Amino acid sequence: MDKMIKNATLSFNGKTIDLPIMQPTVGPEVIDIRKLYGQGDVFTYDPGFTSTAACDSAITYIDGDKGELLYRGYPIEQLAEKSHFLEVCYLLLYGELPDEGQMKDFEARVTNHTMVHEQMHYFFRGFRRDSHPMATMVGVVGAMSAFYHDSTDINDPWQREVAAIRMIAKLPTIAAMAYKYSLGQPFVYPKNSLDYPSNFLHMCFAVPCEDYVVDPILSKAMDRIMMLHADHEQNASTSTVRLAGSSGANPFACVAAGIACLWGPAHGGANQACLEMLREIGTVENIPDAIRRAKDKSDPFRLMGFGHRVYKNFDPRAKVMKESADEVLDLLGIHNNETLKVAKELERIALEDEYFVEKKLYPNVDFYSGIILEAMGFPTSMFTPIFAVSRTVGWISQWKEMIGDPTQKIGRPRQLYIGQTRRDYTDLAKR
Ligand code: CMC
Repeated sequence: MDKMIKNATLSFNGKTIDLPIMQPTVGPEVIDIRKLYGQGDVFTYDPGFTSTAACDSAITYIDGDKGELLYRGYPIEQLAEKSHFLEVCYLLLYGELPDEGQMKDFEARVTNHTMVHEQMHYFFRGFRRDSHPMATMVGVVGAMSAFYHDSTDINDPWQREVAAIRMIAKLPTIAAMAYKYSLGQPFVYPKNSLDYPSNFLHMCFAVPCEDYVVDPILSKAMDRIMMLHADHEQNASTSTVRLAGSSGANPFACVAAGIACLWGPAHGGANQACLEMLREIGTVENIPDAIRRAKDKSDPFRLMGFGHRVYKNFDPRAKVMKESADEVLDLLGIHNNETLKVAKELERIALEDEYFVEKKLYPNVDFYSGIILEAMGFPTSMFTPIFAVSRTVGWISQWKEMIGDPTQKIGRPRQLYIGQTRRDYTDLAKR
């Protein structure tokens, strides 16, 4: 398909420049400004990339107005109902749903890589016990390139493939180890007879002195959390992975960079921040004050778990997650806890309040995922590591797509310089 079929014309400073308009399969057209600096000696200005497409991608599509999320064209609601996380991993990585044989082969490849190098256990022991698990993960995943240097040559497709499988397989093990380490409990080795989400729950909650049987409802809820977080096109952490990878850095280093970015409270850290906020609000009586603070421009307080850069109607992941939250809370018989009451009331008020309705601030996926994870017994510090485990496949799929793109260049944004113009150095005695 010819991606450039018409032009936009830009006139300024007595110049007229024709800019090709690129056609997507769906979504907004994109004005190609690559020649703008060469022909017009100007840059464009777009902090936060609110109107800038930085790459071509065929992986994930979001329509923020419709509240639609598609992985390789498939709606997230259908995948959440009919598929499972490892099948979604295959879909994101390779572009199509697997047949039976392909699925079995993929599952076997992932399962064979779940254990980490034994030396990594000693590496973990270098961290303080009270480290945040995300801090440990940034370090350990970055260090994977030291443990698995036979899969760091980005020019070798086979090594790229092995690195991808290793990361999908080992991130749950690493996240569970970070958790166990923070508790002072022994690491639990992966159990390959279990499916992917059950294996993760087992590594987190089993102890050597007791049997631990994974409840299928909790395993299904974990699988859904993973599916719903698996990819989200060019979000901050994915763009970080792409930018890091654009210099030719190895995939483990790039994913470590993605984990670091994800940690922030405006991105993956929102699930932890949201639960902490619900606890801080404490009781339903305190909600009006929280709402007042959220609206007050002079107060930095925001309602965590509300709003989204792209979804301006509703977050389709939040709908599915809400159903899962109800299932998990029913199973565990949690109906009356104070945090849940605050969450439900806050959701009700925010959906009716003029400020939130007008600004289209709906509960996002993190509002509900925190509630589920807390009910399962995870401490808030594990919420973002679980997001990182789930998003790894998205990061690695986007990284692979970028490496395979012959037009790919090192990412190098420009700037609007507002500092001093050239001036001469003043000797210390004269300042
Ligand atoms: N509480 C109160 N006001 C808000 C909130 C909020 N959570 N989010 C946005 N606003 C207001 C904001 O003050 C602004 O008002 P005004 O137009 O009067 O200045 C308006 O809504 C637009 O906000 P923005 O900051 O320009 O929007 P953004 O697209 O840059 O930010 C966001 C998106 C997700 C960072 C923001 O909504 C936020 O901080 N939400 C809370 C954190 C959160 O839950 N993040 C998780 C996102 S979902 C997981 C993921 O994909 O990473």
